Amino acid sequence: MLKGKKILLGVCGGIAAYKSAYLVRLLVKAGADVQVVMTPGAHQFITALTLSSLSKKPVLTDFSSGTQGEWNNHVKLGMEADLMVVAPATANTLSKMATGNCDNLLMAVYLSARCPVMFAPAMDLDMYRHEATIENLGKLKGFGNIMIKPGVGELASGLEGEGRMAEPEEILAEIEEYFEVGTSLKGKKILISAGPTYEAIDPVRFIGNHSSGKMGVAIAETAAKRGAEVKLVIGPSSVETAHPSIERVNVVSAEEMYVACTKAFKAMDVAIMTAAVADYRPTKVAREKIKKKDVALHIELEPTKDILAELGKLKKKGQTLVGFALETENELKNASGKLKSKNLDFIVLNSLKDKGAGFQRDTNKITIIDRNNKTTKFELKSKQEVAKDIINKVTEAVNNV
Ligand code: CTP
Repeated sequence: MLKGKKILLGVCGGIAAYKSAYLVRLLVKAGADVQVVMTPGAHQFITALTLSSLSKKPVLTDFSSGTQGEWNNHVKLGMEADLMVVAPATANTLSKMATGNCDNLLMAVYLSARCPVMFAPAMDLDMYRHEATIENLGKLKGFGNIMIKPGVGELASGLEGEGRMAEPEEILAEIEEYFEVGTSLKGKKILISAGPTYEAIDPVRFIGNHSSGKMGVAIAETAAKRGAEVKLVIGPSSVETAHPSIERVNVVSAEEMYVACTKAFKAMDVAIMTAAVADYRPTKVAREKIKKKDVALHIELEPTKDILAELGKLKKKGQTLVGFALETENELKNASGKLKSKNLDFIVLNSLKDKGAGFQRDTNKITIIDRNNKTTKFELKSKQEVAKDIINKVTEAVNNV
């Protein structure tokens, strides 16, 4: 799959550099032409001999090398590559990438690269969480670089948490996916709603639900990786987005989500509404905190606007509209009822009865029903894999309109 692809692999000075050897092996095995560029610090963690043996070519670190002082042409390297991957990307290198600090060959190559750049952060928990790192990551995404999210688990320091470099197999999968389907949604604009909504009762309380936003974010990431420009309208959620082609619009209430989605829809090719929007909100929001009393408290609720149904009314020829249905009984009947009443092209059904599916989980089990009543059942999968199934169906629909 990667046959003939020129990949520049930047290796920085972090303990995760030991995984770079296996990554080089996997890339070479997949047919890629790998040129390793190490930072000076990386030599303390892994030898150039290991990486050059695996990549079958000399590893570069300095601006010149060899007995005659041959120049390592960073501009040529950057111009000829199909993809640059920095793995591990340490806090130090991320900071240099964010500010354009060019004090080693890897940075000169990075600044010269005309190809897309992926980076796989690797650092300790507190370094990863530091505001400076967060700001640098934001800048790098803003520059159009693609982050390969770190994993959560035991870190070299003994601490547990986020910051561990993604496994070489995961990095390979991201690279393969980039080359395989990187352009199937190129030029398409996709609107995605995600997460819960919070409906205020008073200044400190709200009505909400258990939606985490994981499914919507996974769909947004997959669509962006395939070349789409994504607008993600998301209710309160701690799930982060990584791809630079995702424009994130944070909202709180159903009304705010309605305004953001209906305003954006006209310019979109596709809209996928995954949000668990509150169906009701308090008729009145108390201006001050409601005080505890010894009698029952009644809160009157009024319906919120159905965003998906409104988009179904606004839908023009050439636009694809996808809804979600979360059902607890008569699943297929209820879902196909929503498909018709909300004028959808297809609906993704998940049942809370299925083990491993639904809120807060990392897995989901879906059934897709389309306008022709074609029903496709999928196995229980990770939300990332489910996102791919949904985006495959979107791609098919977009190409058929
Ligand atoms: N939806 C929406 N706006 C709402 C309510 C729902 O956009 N105010 C969208 C959801 O994002 C989802 C779909 O509608 O894509 C189905 O939501 P669901 O709550 O299952 O259906 P409802 O139409 O609200 O019906 P019910 O709650 O009675 O099952």
